[in-house]
Amino acid sequence: MRDIRIFLLGCIMAGLAFVFLATWLTSGPANAQDAATPPAEVEIDRSATGGATTLEDILRRQQGLASDNDYRAGELGNPDAAAGITDQLGTLGGASDPDLWRGMRFNAADISTQVRGPASTVLIQDRGMWWLQFREGPLLVYGGYLLLGTLAALAVFFLLRGRVRIDGAKTGRRIERFKNVERFGHWLLAGSFIVLGITGLVSLMGRKFLIPVMGHDSYAWIAGASKWVHNNVSWAFMLALVMIFVMWVVHNFPDRTDLKWLAKGGGLFGGGHPPAKKFNAGQKLIFWSTIVLGASISVSGISLLFPFELPLFAKTFAILNTTGLPEMFGFGILPETMTLHEEMQYAQLWHAIVSFVLMAIILAHIYIGSVGMEGAFDAMGSGMVEEQWAKEHHSLWVAEVKEREGKAPSGATPAE
Ligand code: HEM
Repeated sequence: MRDIRIFLLGCIMAGLAFVFLATWLTSGPANAQDAATPPAEVEIDRSATGGATTLEDILRRQQGLASDNDYRAGELGNPDAAAGITDQLGTLGGASDPDLWRGMRFNAADISTQVRGPASTVLIQDRGMWWLQFREGPLLVYGGYLLLGTLAALAVFFLLRGRVRIDGAKTGRRIERFKNVERFGHWLLAGSFIVLGITGLVSLMGRKFLIPVMGHDSYAWIAGASKWVHNNVSWAFMLALVMIFVMWVVHNFPDRTDLKWLAKGGGLFGGGHPPAKKFNAGQKLIFWSTIVLGASISVSGISLLFPFELPLFAKTFAILNTTGLPEMFGFGILPETMTLHEEMQYAQLWHAIVSFVLMAIILAHIYIGSVGMEGAFDAMGSGMVEEQWAKEHHSLWVAEVKEREGKAPSGATPAE
């Protein structure tokens, strides 16, 4: 019963995630440079400045309106026409500060740095504005709504449905459901995920929500600590992900009982509890969501942890383009060449979007594994569950355990 609800919530959240992703990809530019600097919709008369920047250009840029940058790329200073060094404003040899910055922006300045990293040839990445705007805007807003919406949905569900109780009479006998090592793996995963979720949200949303409350100095300290914790705890999450995969994958392959379980809606609409093995279909969905989304978060996280060393997206987009799927779904041809900075930007967005989806799914999981269902927490708390709970939710597994261990299973102990 509980799992069909998790499944339904998961479907809704995956649907929402798809919509966000679609919005992002369709609003995301095929050529990010063009999107960052779309031509001005209005024709600006620059005759008074001899073709140079006008006040109107500056005001449009300040207001975030579309502005034309093409004319600026060729607007670099000409040292030969410079005022003499003794003249007023002549000290830069004909190139003003804006000229210098513009030169950097359009890769036309003769500048080198001591940094010899893979992306050190790009001093200003002009095509990064769409990423910055998406990160500060839709990602933060929709991501926040997804989490708050999930919490609200769970609260409403709890008010309407209440706690899922054990239907039959309790037997007083308990069965071992998870061994110590399994519970260690689960809590390592859970603990690290919660820490990563909180520190990730601090990094993403702190500028908007924490700086106004605590000021820049305090936030700077918290942001630095969050980043350090986030980067280092990620290894615990990855280790735990491998652990639970190895320990539980054998119980999570789909089989015919899942179809029956799903056909009965997990027992949500009455008709008794459908039979299930160690994990029912709803739990298998949680398991595979954790593994697939967790692995995707991990890989994009490693890409972020070692900047520019593990570019993933141009290659992935190229493979996707060969399938024709992006075009079929109206996304057009995805960009197959991009700077290393853009690779990092896609990695950051992907990391955050997938994390939001997994966080929403896991909120529902935490609810049903704690307050939402009587007897469920014991499975991960002490490792021992009430036999009646087990019979109601995992009848085939109980039968297996009994068959393996005889009528009175050695793992079963009378309740104190
Ligand atoms: C405080 C938070 C959490 C609680 C109270 C909790 C509780 C539980 C419980 C009671 C089970 C066993 C269910 C059963 O006996 O069948 C379980 C299983 C599981 N948990 Fe958690 N959990 C928490 C956090 C997490 C997190 C953060 C993740 C992943 C990032 C996670 C992933 C899983 C997975 C994959 C399973 C096995 C599949 C399933 O039972 O749905 N859990 N959890």
